[in-house]
Amino acid sequence: MKKILSGLFAVTFGCFTVPAFAAGDAVKLPSYDWSFEGVFGTYDKASMQRGLQVYKDVCSGCHSLDLVAMRNLLDLGYNVDEVKAFAADYTVEDGPNDEGEMFERAGKPSDHFPAPFANEKAAAASNGGKAPPDLSLMAKARVGGPSYIRALLTGYVDAPEDVDVGNLSYNTYFPGHLIGMAAPLSEDAVEYSDGTPASVDQMATDVSHFLMWAAEPKLEARKQTGIKVMIFLIIFTLVMYAAKRKVFAKVH
Ligand code: HEC
Repeated sequence: MKKILSGLFAVTFGCFTVPAFAAGDAVKLPSYDWSFEGVFGTYDKASMQRGLQVYKDVCSGCHSLDLVAMRNLLDLGYNVDEVKAFAADYTVEDGPNDEGEMFERAGKPSDHFPAPFANEKAAAASNGGKAPPDLSLMAKARVGGPSYIRALLTGYVDAPEDVDVGNLSYNTYFPGHLIGMAAPLSEDAVEYSDGTPASVDQMATDVSHFLMWAAEPKLEARKQTGIKVMIFLIIFTLVMYAAKRKVFAKVH
């Protein structure tokens, strides 16, 4: 359909303009069957737990996850003690105390994930001038969402010979291809606690799944409400139809 339309467009306007390429130049993302897609879709807790491990062990070195609090990790199937232990692994700055000093303490479930850099300037300075963006809403901020992130993480290839990458890297799926993030994943970059082999593909999939949850933690509740509303509307329609028949039966 798109092709027909752009064909028609080209035929209609082609004679007035210099030939231009259709806007559909963007590289097609490899499709992936996410468990959270579809009306009845749900998150895969095991995959999210592995994704959390990838974020913590790899991505969190550069990327913040500002909007996610440790206690939100209960959604991933952890119990309260596990979340407490996870949070306590972090050191966070708190204060000021009664003397007016900031101090450090162990993390609590109510804390959000601490950022790796003090501010955006520091983040950019440590990364060749490009600040690694916050990942909290990344899965909703980019076209393709989790499929884009998954593709990006597995999309590093050698640059074509005529391209000078400088201090950047070449990525099939990054708009413009030259990205300031070197390939962050390599085979066995993490050791999964559930024993799943940590291939680049597996880690990319898991961390994208995790980031989708981070961006839309209420997805399952939203879908369930949608289903309930649909069931209500169907029953309501049937009742109204029966009532209508009853009322109008006497009119004839
Ligand atoms: C060594 C630092 C570093 C690590 C580790 C790292 N990143 Fe990045 N990331 C960056 C930088 C820098 C950018 C900005 C690149 C640019 O704009 O050219 C970036 C950008 C991104 C983007 C945005 C791309 C876009 O479309 O704008 C995503 C998504 C991303 N990183 C995901 C991840 C994930 C997931 C991980 C962990 C598997 C990770 N990164 C690990 C430095 C890093």
